[in-house]
Amino acid sequence: MTGQIVMGITGASGAAYARRLIELLVRAGRGVHLVISPAGRQLLADELGLTEVTPRSLLGGGDAGRVKLYPHDDLAAVISSGSFRTDGMAVCPCSSNTLAAIASGLADNLITRAAHVTLKERRPLVLVTRETPLSPIEIENMAGLSRAGAILCPASPGFYHHPRTIEDLVDFVVAKVLDLLGVEHDLKTRYTP
Ligand SMILES: Cc1cc2nc3c(=O)[nH]c(=O)nc-3n(C[C@H](O)[C@H](O)[C@H](O)COP(=O)(O)O)c2cc1C
Repeated sequence: MTGQIVMGITGASGAAYARRLIELLVRAGRGVHLVISPAGRQLLADELGLTEVTPRSLLGGGDAGRVKLYPHDDLAAVISSGSFRTDGMAVCPCSSNTLAAIASGLADNLITRAAHVTLKERRPLVLVTRETPLSPIEIENMAGLSRAGAILCPASPGFYHHPRTIEDLVDFVVAKVLDLLGVEHDLKTRYTP
């Protein structure tokens, strides 16, 4: 285990998932290598009111030093290379646009390049898609990525933990992503009969 997780934020609705995921990765002692697409920044502004995005503004508290933010076009960043070891990557939320780019093998920005690297190095790649309904285009992109080893994890909260707040619904999805990345958490979202 390296303790390092790569994370992409793209322009799908669900900025709250991204912020909570970063918070819990940091709380678990992980290093977060973060890339945000221009559309992802727009969603952070629209949905969270975050106009100036920094590790500190994203976290609100906690150890912002664990979060390294890279420019979207910085293809020379360490996470562009498979020789930089990580425990995996989440794209949260993942737009259909970025889904299509990764499925096609495109690697022309740091999110798609890091995702490409994660797949080729056979590390966990968790894609938190948020689009509905789905056309055959997205379904085929998802199927291809699943065959390539990616984990499709749609932002689709369950209700068996009896959510009362939006935060409870957000936590359901984020807990699933943490489980898939092998990161410990104590969120109360597990099914108990
Ligand atoms: C307000 C808003 C909400 C959006 N929500 C979604 C969404 O939920 N899912 C999605 O796939 N695309 C959504 N989009 C479209 C993407 O932002 C758009 O396809 C963009 O090109 C994605 O770029 P990126 O993949 O580089 O982030 C939304 C766009 C806007 C402006």
